[in-house]
Formats: sequence, C-alpha cells, structure tokens
Amino acid sequence: QIKACLFDLDGVLVDTAVYHYQAWKRLANTMGFDFTEAQNEQLKGVSRVESLNKILAWGGVTKTDAEKEELATLKNSWYVDMITKMTPSEVLPGTVEFLTAIHETGYKLALGSASKNSATILERTQLAHFFDEIVDGNMVTKSKPDPEVFLKGAALLGFKPEECVVFEDAVAGVEAAKRGGMKAIGIGEKSVLTEADKVVSGLDKLTVKDLEEL
Ligand code: BG6
Ligand code: MG
Repeated sequence: QIKACLFDLDGVLVDTAVYHYQAWKRLANTMGFDFTEAQNEQLKGVSRVESLNKILAWGGVTKTDAEKEELATLKNSWYVDMITKMTPSEVLPGTVEFLTAIHETGYKLALGSASKNSATILERTQLAHFFDEIVDGNMVTKSKPDPEVFLKGAALLGFKPEECVVFEDAVAGVEAAKRGGMKAIGIGEKSVLTEADKVVSGLDKLTVKDLEEL
C-alpha cells in the first residue's frame, strides 16, 4: 500500500524544462552548433555536468574540466535569471489541487529532484510548504537513473521503497524509481515513459483514488 509520494520538480510540478532547454540551446549556439528537441528529451532528469557532457559530445567538442566548469556556470547563470522571475502562475495545471488532496488524505510528501536550484523554484512558486522532506541535487552524488535521490527521500520520510510512488516526467527518473523498488507514475507520453506503472499527461488528470489503485 502506498503511503508516501515522491515528486520530481522540473517538468512535473513546474514547467522549468523549457528554461533548461533555452539555456542549454543558447550555450550550444555560442559554441557553433545546435541540438534537437528529441535530443533534449535525453537531458531531462540528468544532472548539470552530465547534461553538459552529452551536449559537448553531440557537438563533437572537447573541453577541459576547467572549461566545462565555466560553461556549466554560464548556463546556470542564464537559467537562474529565468527562474528568479518565476511566479506561482507557472505551476503546472492541477498541481496545487493534487498536492493539497493527497496531503489532506494523510500521504507524506517529498521532493526528489536532480536540481541544485530547487529551493529558488519552490520559493518563487510557493510550493515549498507541501513537502515534508526535500532531496535535491545538492544532497546526492549519483544522477538519475541511479535511485539514490528517491531512496534518500523514502528513508527521510521513514517508508520502505514499496510504500512509495514517484511522479516523473523523465525516462531517467522513471528508471530511477523502478530501480529503487518504487511505483512510478509517468507525467508525459506512454510511448516515451514505457517503464512507468501508469502514465498521465499531467497532475490535473490524477486523484487520490489513482494512488489507492496502484
Ligand atoms: C533536473 C532537470 O530536474 O535537474 C535537468 O530535469 C537538470 O534538466 C537537472 O539538468 C539539474 O538542474 P540544475 O538546476 O541543478 O542545473
Ligand atoms: Mg523532470
């Protein structure tokens, strides 16, 4: 039986995936190449340095560790410029209603995000108060699809993996949940999130009853 809900942030609760995409695209463009939206799909859920490594490989570009550090910092500065201007209106449809409903039903909630910017986003969008525990990119060493971020969330909440369900928009995130022994609800398309136990287009399509039926 499900007792706890672990939420990815980018692309599940808020539409920051587009800001990540814009910033990475701008960085690639400054190096003289571009990448497609399909390639961008592979960046979802993946940490900042691993995203950069993928992009450099797509462009056939080699950089030293020091240069990579600079590039990642530059991308992040553009990204932070965008997220510091976010408002609660950018919370995805149905999010506040669903989080309120499961919280009132008695489920425990944790954030399980790869981002090191989660505090800024949760504060700007006024979502922070929903979460009993927050695990983000500052607290993990292994990027999704490693289950570390979700296992930490479950442990902090005091539940076993099989008592948890993860909400994820990324292929790497769904894989992390399954590898951790948890249920996974995919947010997006069934044809992409093939490993998920259930897939919906957004949290606006879910009710407490869906959790009881998992
Ligand atoms: C994930 C995003 O949530 O966080 C990735 O899906 C992103 O696209 C990763 O690279 C790390 O985010 P940040 O904010 O630490 O650069
Ligand atoms: Mg995501």
